[in-house]
Amino acid sequence: MAINVLFVCLGNICRSPMAEAVFSRLVEEEGLANHFQIDSAGTSSYHVGERAHPGTRGVLAKHGIRYNGRSRQVVAREMADQNTYVIAMDSANIRDLERRFGSRTRLAPLLAYAQNSDREDVPDPYYEGNFEYVYQLVEDGCLGLLAAIRKEEGI
Ligand code: 4NP
Repeated sequence: MAINVLFVCLGNICRSPMAEAVFSRLVEEEGLANHFQIDSAGTSSYHVGERAHPGTRGVLAKHGIRYNGRSRQVVAREMADQNTYVIAMDSANIRDLERRFGSRTRLAPLLAYAQNSDREDVPDPYYEGNFEYVYQLVEDGCLGLLAAIRKEEGI
């Protein structure tokens, strides 16, 4: 059975698509693509149907990563699946998810897995720009996340 990983942010146009794309590439590089189902979604419906922010697409392209996904909102069904790793970009995302769907296991902030940063939240580049800095944080978190999942799942 595939290991589901769902990255979540507010708008699903800046941070969680970046995390989805970076994590997908790491999984491919490690030859594990057939083990995973990787996706992203937003807590809000603000940007449903839109492509990722040009800043996110730009920084991904700069690092040689293609991304063509479109924004969608989190749905109750996937939050009910306790096997899905739900990985949030900040603490507001976690609060929003818990308020709407109740608490669950396997809900964690991405930067809990980062080795090189003490930050708890991935800053929102929609407001603050600096997509390259956000990319570095996201990559750091994704590397640690993949290592943790490999350990947990024995792959
Ligand atoms: P994201 O960034 O949550 O990283 O996709 C945002 C995108 C849109 C908005 C806020 C944050 N917005 O308020 O429209």
